[in-house]
Amino acid sequence: MKAVKMELLNKLWLAPMAEVTDAPFRIISKKFGAGLTFTQMVSAKGVVENEFETLQYLAFSKNEKPIGVQILANDPLTLAQSVTEVKKYSPDVIDLNCGCPVNKVTRYQMGATILDNPKLLGELIKSMKDTSGDTLISVKMRLGKNKSNINILENAQIAQSNGADFVIVHTRTREDRYYIDAEWEWLRKIKENIDIPVIGNGSIFSAKDAVNMIEQTGCDSVMVARGALGNPFLFNRFNKMMENGIDPGEPSIEEVKDAALEHINLLVREYGEIRAIHRAKKFIIWYFRFFNGITSLIDSLIKINDIILLKDFIEEHSNKIKKDVYKPEDLNEIDNLFKRRVLFWLEENKVIVAG
Ligand SMILES: Cc1cc2nc3c(=O)[nH]c(=O)nc-3n(C[C@H](O)[C@H](O)[C@H](O)COP(=O)(O)O)c2cc1C
Repeated sequence: MKAVKMELLNKLWLAPMAEVTDAPFRIISKKFGAGLTFTQMVSAKGVVENEFETLQYLAFSKNEKPIGVQILANDPLTLAQSVTEVKKYSPDVIDLNCGCPVNKVTRYQMGATILDNPKLLGELIKSMKDTSGDTLISVKMRLGKNKSNINILENAQIAQSNGADFVIVHTRTREDRYYIDAEWEWLRKIKENIDIPVIGNGSIFSAKDAVNMIEQTGCDSVMVARGALGNPFLFNRFNKMMENGIDPGEPSIEEVKDAALEHINLLVREYGEIRAIHRAKKFIIWYFRFFNGITSLIDSLIKINDIILLKDFIEEHSNKIKKDVYKPEDLNEIDNLFKRRVLFWLEENKVIVAG
């Protein structure tokens, strides 16, 4: 077991998110104080076979460090080979995905299905450990298959005894998907059972939630996924609350607008204008989901296909929010829709508010 550097502990980390945690989002999150960011999951087989798309997901620049790379695999040999390749990029952490419940992953016996097979889990972690050198090794797990098959205590112990340097636990089962609130109380039980750091994940939507998770469970750091979408400010707020107990408060509309525009510039740099426009739209919706005018924003956004027009639109929309032009919306309901259907927003942002 390698010691996890103190700088990584008691921090708020950005979770791996497919189609979301690309370089622009990671850079913004780091700028606002994320303690560690992750690439989205990459397939071990894709890494070993040098697939172009996989290597694109994996790439990061040195100034993004500290950063973790997450791997999807179910066979120790391919996993070990991929770790050897990934190590060449010098990430700080290499994580094994044992939490993904989606069909296109589980039908290949990867992601959350590995939780049902503690022996395989042990072999996979050992194969990473044997090839990882100085790089930290972790595993991101759910509680188990379903409520009747919660085996996180056993799996966390297997992870530790096979050389994981820390575990990340999303405190829902595979079958829970996102239907229930995360069950943080498991984190304390896991902490009592193993000595390596435990990173808590699930239902963190504010800096206060993250501080509460640490205080209530004794977990060593917190990882946020959906709560960070359009809200990188929560990293800074968390850091300030941990430093001096004072929350700097909600960002102003000016700060939100600046972050959204900076995000667009980073997307253009990463993908070029045409691809950036399509990709930017979901992020813009997420940035402005906390303000009246979100319904109108979604309607207008769909029609914009030019980056200059997009930026002008954001300026105009922010000014209207500032002048309180938009009629009040049920922002709590918008928030509920977002939490329940974030994946849907990702794919078809046009229908969501009506849905
Ligand atoms: C859009 C999206 C993509 C995700 N992709 C991944 C992924 O690639 N790897 C992974 O381990 N978890 C992935 N997750 C799960 C999150 O990392 C996290 O465990 C989960 O959303 C619970 O945290 P939250 O309640 O803060 O959202 C994804 C979640 C979302 C919303």
